Amino acid sequence: MSDTPWWASQDFWRKCAIFVTAFMAVILIILTFDTVDAITSGSDRVPAYDVINYRIGYEFDAERNMYAPVIGGEAPLFATMHTEEEARALVDLGKLTVQAKNCMNCHTLLGNGAYYAPDLTKAWLDPGWGNEQSRELLMTLFLTDPVSNARTFGTNRRMPDLGITDEEARGVIAFLKWLSAVDTNGFPHGFEPLPQGGP
Ligand code: HEC
Repeated sequence: MSDTPWWASQDFWRKCAIFVTAFMAVILIILTFDTVDAITSGSDRVPAYDVINYRIGYEFDAERNMYAPVIGGEAPLFATMHTEEEARALVDLGKLTVQAKNCMNCHTLLGNGAYYAPDLTKAWLDPGWGNEQSRELLMTLFLTDPVSNARTFGTNRRMPDLGITDEEARGVIAFLKWLSAVDTNGFPHGFEPLPQGGP
């Protein structure tokens, strides 16, 4: 027994295992706090909910070599300036609707979900809405009655009627506008936004 070198002893490896597990647990806790900070609305990458009051641009950032959202001047959603509380309530309604109707059964959001229909991360900026002036109306019509108001978003597929009310549609649109302002490190790659006038 005494001729076993220290680095081959059971005791040494037991201590190593305990130390590594404890150390990694601490790292995990630190990273968890770090992530929560990075994904909370109002942080650098995830805007506060009242971003829905502003124009959201998407421009090439040469330094990062990728497209990034640019928050511009006032462009109130549904011609109403929302307080942070009101904006939060509207975005929440949209998010709950997206969950309740299981949009991820066909779509992806931030790349998560199914691949039957287009990714919705930048849907607010999709050139398929024609122009800035018509966008809110066309989105409302499309979401509340996608069968009669079918447009083309590059797939040859059709979205079914999901029984979304006008109010739910407004929430979904607020949610999608807010989502398009999230800095996703250039995801989805190669996305060309709707041309928008003004800063
Ligand atoms: C059964 C599958 C299905 C479900 C569920 C579904 N969609 Fe769709 N959706 C589609 C398809 C297919 C298209 C593309 C239509 C086209 O290309 O003409 C589409 C297109 C869209 C678009 C336009 C895409 C773009 O790039 O701008 C939006 C916005 C949208 N859906 C929102 C939603 C929301 C919000 C929900 C949940 C409330 C939802 N969809 C649920 C199939 C679905």
